[in-house]
Amino acid sequence: MSPTDRDGSANDGAANGSDASGPDPLAPDHAPDDSVLLEARGIRKSFGDNQVLRSIDLEVRRGEVVVLIGPSGSGKTTVLRSLNGLETPDAGTVSIAGGPSLDFATPVSKAQRYALRDRSAMVFQQHNLFPHMTVIENVIEGPVRVQKVPKSRAVAEASALLERVGLAEKRDAYPFELSGGQQQRVGIVRALSLKPQLLLFDEPTSALDPELVGEVLQVIKELADEGWTMVVVTHELSFARQAADEVLFMDGGVVVERGAPEQIFTKPTEERTRRFLDRILRPLD
Ligand SMILES: Nc1ncnc2c1ncn2[C@@H]1O[C@H](COP(=O)(O)OP(=O)(O)OP(=O)(O)O)[C@@H](O)[C@H]1O
Ligand SMILES: [Mg+2]
Repeated sequence: MSPTDRDGSANDGAANGSDASGPDPLAPDHAPDDSVLLEARGIRKSFGDNQVLRSIDLEVRRGEVVVLIGPSGSGKTTVLRSLNGLETPDAGTVSIAGGPSLDFATPVSKAQRYALRDRSAMVFQQHNLFPHMTVIENVIEGPVRVQKVPKSRAVAEASALLERVGLAEKRDAYPFELSGGQQQRVGIVRALSLKPQLLLFDEPTSALDPELVGEVLQVIKELADEGWTMVVVTHELSFARQAADEVLFMDGGVVVERGAPEQIFTKPTEERTRRFLDRILRPLD
């Protein structure tokens, strides 16, 4: 279902359009251009005997949205975690935003992995908010504690972002007082507050009740429209159709097929892609 044909009126509304004054808080620091923001080559990863990634290549230009689809266990999360330095691949190189190209075939230090992690921010299936902290405390935690941003500035920036995603009134609420969709929007704000170059989403709506999916997809769609560079794992095909520049279909640790969303969804060239799409479009057949 597309984010626009869901009725979010029962909620307090997702992003409501930008304020006329000043830059939009949802906009990335860098405007889209033609430069390659993320370059990953030959990423391989095994867990014991299980070869999970068998040489993944990914190139994303600044401002592009890449959607990863594929069956459970095909390696989608492992790709994102490898890009974010949460996983250490066995081989391959990753470079983000002109940073040094990390070669995982050689030993990679903790500092190098942290440098990679700093360039991207990940939004998980489950929001992972700290339950004992209010919304605003959750959002400023990263900027203040990790990035040493002055608290007053972090609070001002977090407030602007929360307002922009329709959560101004929830800033002093605790996570348990929020719906799943609101919690996930806070999770997105938390990622944005770190001012990353690249956003990574791992099935950001799959843990939500169906009626809450639209409000979260709407925010992600707005981020795409604002020019954020992102890699999104999702099976929300109409979102992918609207937002993606490129769709990658993964199976068995390889990218089986990649192309424009229209091509992948209506004229896939690979039988495996066709079978997968049939299964998610007609699960009961
Ligand atoms: N830390 C780990 N230790 C051992 N095996 C792992 C680990 N993480 C992932 N795997 C295995 O790697 C394979 C790929 O997992 P991954 O989570 O990347 O798949 P996925 O495509 O994201 O699946 P899903 O759609 O279910 O989220 C699976 O076989 C999984 O069991
Ligand atoms: Mg996964």
